[in-house]
Amino acid sequence: MKTTPLCRLAHKYGTDKCPQLGHSYTPFYYQLLKNKRREVKKVLEIGIGSRETMQWTPEHYQVGASLRMWRDFFPNAIVYGVDRDSTTMFKAARIKTILMSTTRVANLQKLIDDIGPDIDLLVDDGPHNERFQLQTARTIIPLIKKSCLYIIEDVTRPETVKEQLTEFDCRIVKSPDGRRQDNLVVIEKQ
Ligand SMILES: C[S@@+](CC[C@H](N)C(=O)[O-])C[C@H]1O[C@@H](n2cnc3c(N)ncnc32)[C@H](O)[C@@H]1O
Repeated sequence: MKTTPLCRLAHKYGTDKCPQLGHSYTPFYYQLLKNKRREVKKVLEIGIGSRETMQWTPEHYQVGASLRMWRDFFPNAIVYGVDRDSTTMFKAARIKTILMSTTRVANLQKLIDDIGPDIDLLVDDGPHNERFQLQTARTIIPLIKKSCLYIIEDVTRPETVKEQLTEFDCRIVKSPDGRRQDNLVVIEKQ
């Protein structure tokens, strides 16, 4: 698999989104987003990650690795990260971390109220539990602006998730190496 500039940024900070460190998401993300680098202004990722929750990552792993990757990839963006674990909170240029659990619908509604609906890219890498993946998508997608790319990572049963989200135009991206949990569901808000 070809290493892309996004794979290199993922590796630099130690997120397992890249094939070198775990999942094969960054080659796909690079193709999807490479022509939007300058126009993406707001990114939200659910699930920041800490050394404890990312134990399999390398020695050089930095807390919030994927937020740092997105920040460097999109030079004009503010990157928001949400996590329920206080050890994931940190301060860095163009990154804002928010402490909250996404399993409560009211929290999700408040989140979008607080940061605004004009999100260009939203990645759900939080609780990898189908019930909450569905609840989060159903709550957030109606609230965000049209054309936002909403991506659910680590989907075990992507066909089931797609069937459950018939109100949205879902595209399944399967793991190229056939790993059971490494599927994405990608939705472009209409
Ligand atoms: C796989 S890690 C995120 C990794 C990070 N996105 C990266 O690629 O570097 C998943 C994170 O989701 C957080 N998480 C799990 N359940 C959550 C919930 N209900 N609300 C908010 N965060 C949650 C965990 O605390 C953990 O830090």
